[in-house]
Amino acid sequence: MLQIDLNGRTALVTGAAGGIGRGIVATLVGAGATVVAADLDADAAASVAVDHPGSVVPLTMDVTDEAGVQAAIASLDGHADLPAPVSLLVNNAGIAGRTGMPFTRLDQSDWDLPWQVNVVGPFLVTAALVEQLAQTGGSVVNIASVSGRRGFTTSPPYSASKAAILNFTQGMATDLAPRGVRVNAVCPGMVLTPFYRQQRLAAAVNDPKLLEITDEEFFQDKASRLIPLGRGQQPADIAGAVAFLASDLASSVTGQALNVDGGLVMS
Ligand SMILES: NC(=O)c1ccc[n+]([C@@H]2O[C@H](COP(=O)([O-])OP(=O)(O)OC[C@H]3O[C@@H](n4cnc5c(N)ncnc54)[C@H](O)[C@@H]3O)[C@@H](O)[C@H]2O)c1
Repeated sequence: MLQIDLNGRTALVTGAAGGIGRGIVATLVGAGATVVAADLDADAAASVAVDHPGSVVPLTMDVTDEAGVQAAIASLDGHADLPAPVSLLVNNAGIAGRTGMPFTRLDQSDWDLPWQVNVVGPFLVTAALVEQLAQTGGSVVNIASVSGRRGFTTSPPYSASKAAILNFTQGMATDLAPRGVRVNAVCPGMVLTPFYRQQRLAAAVNDPKLLEITDEEFFQDKASRLIPLGRGQQPADIAGAVAFLASDLASSVTGQALNVDGGLVMS
């Protein structure tokens, strides 16, 4: 039977305590990996470890803090609960930042945080892990977005940062191919996570009726109207694509981006 087997491997997932991050951790643990759950929020990272006793090591890390990233990665050296050096990095931590609609409402400073978290963060964490990834013939999966495929108006700094990480995925893939490291991206469509509260509040600037509905109602209405397959994505949908790209089934795949969006980008 064809199956994804990550037994004996160590993965590191950033933003592991968020909606999609938790789904990715659960799928990788289910495939046999031991996972380092890295997040800015220490308590939330610890709670991910509680959900997967013996399979998850929590790590507090701000992906935008270079010295902090290096110290956090160094703290894993020789860790008794990790079976091997890190051979899979999932750069999942991401932030929407302030929304625009129209973009002329934005300030110069609104461009800083999405750029730092969504682009510089993956650079810092990948650079800190590159020797371990090369040593293990490992791979990197960057969580981008359909917003990087198409310039949605909700948050231009966010969309532009996601387009940038798709571009950087190709650059990283080219640089690291001679060292046997593959680098790919997954572009989620719409996943109901805390992220969606910001989207509803942003849209309410132009349509105050949206303040009277729940995040879930806002999400379901948008998903049924915009997504050809008629539903939003679950964290497990995104995690399945990550597991595939991390596995030997994808051993010839590098520099690619896979939309997991129910066809949203086509619509
Ligand atoms: N939810 C969606 O519909 C959707 C769609 C497309 C892409 N994405 C992308 O998927 C990824 C995960 O999104 P989500 O919906 O799970 O968001 P979320 O807000 O639920 O989780 C994000 C997690 O990242 C952590 N984080 C934020 N800044 C960090 C930093 N500087 N260092 C370390 N950790 C940090 C947060 O503490 C949180 O646990 C993001 O990259 C996001 O852009 C989400």
